[in-house]
Amino acid sequence: MRSAVRRVLPLLRPAPAAAAAVLLAACGGRQNVLNPAGIQAERIENLFWPMLVVASAVWLIVMAALLYAVFHRRRDEIQPEEKERRMRRGVTTAVGATVAILVVFLLLDFFTGRAVATPQNRNILTITVTGHQWWWEATYVDPDESRHLTIANEIHIPVGRPVRLMLQSDDVIHSFWVPNLHGKKDLIPGYTTLTWLRADRPGVYRGQCAEFCGHQHAKMGLEVVAEPEAEFARWFEHQLTNARPPADSVTRRGLEVFLGNACVMCHTIRGTPAGGSVAPDLTHLASRRTIAAAVLPNNRGHLGGWITDPQRIKPGTRMPANPIDPKDLHALLSYLETLR
Ligand code: CUA
Repeated sequence: MRSAVRRVLPLLRPAPAAAAAVLLAACGGRQNVLNPAGIQAERIENLFWPMLVVASAVWLIVMAALLYAVFHRRRDEIQPEEKERRMRRGVTTAVGATVAILVVFLLLDFFTGRAVATPQNRNILTITVTGHQWWWEATYVDPDESRHLTIANEIHIPVGRPVRLMLQSDDVIHSFWVPNLHGKKDLIPGYTTLTWLRADRPGVYRGQCAEFCGHQHAKMGLEVVAEPEAEFARWFEHQLTNARPPADSVTRRGLEVFLGNACVMCHTIRGTPAGGSVAPDLTHLASRRTIAAAVLPNNRGHLGGWITDPQRIKPGTRMPANPIDPKDLHALLSYLETLR
């Protein structure tokens, strides 16, 4: 008896942990599949709960049957033919129930998949998202090419409007995942994949690369800012503008430092000679909430630390250390802070 208990107990061990994880996950949050803010995530959640409930019920029934079989051994009087008949009935019922449950789930899954992937055709916003080791580049595609906008790590979208995301990768396979808005979609080098989003609630939703892509995969985050159409339009028009020229001697010196150091090789600041294209566009850096792909809050201290020694914060990042003289660093930071 005791050995039977010892055999059964390990099977039960994951149950409390799984229940706790589900309860914790269900408590709101801005990176949470169970707190949907858009139609796609909502449909996925509608699939998740029935699956969880049915799978849990099946698990409990199987465990109960197992315990019954272990502790209730009847070495008794049933005829072999009767025993055989009961066993056949039990197996047939179990197989029938399994097939029925799987067919229902298959249909639910099929219709959910169709619903989240159906192309929309009204007032679409198209954004090309490119994955880099380890940051995100987003280009807003406009019929008027002069209105194409390239930004990094913070994607703004208007609430209620379907967004078509064309996903591609610059190096290895990444995966675009903003849990509050939609499921995962891979970014594959040399191939464009397509996914749709529609945020129905304003808010800031955190996304995360969901495919191991190297050393700093965990620090490849992004933020999606869903805002009302008018606010989005204001943001977009402002982002299209060039950087304001420095207005005083400190910020003028700051721009000189930027142009005289390695920064200029990789970054663009529109409206200045800096036109590098292998790292995030910094034209409106100061308007962003975070730096280093949603790793640090965007403030002077973090920015200074990141510029001088990025390897300490994100070992392996393509950005080299920049031993800039403290006075020059101060000027550079003052200039970067004007890039609103
Ligand atoms: Cu990109 Cu993981």
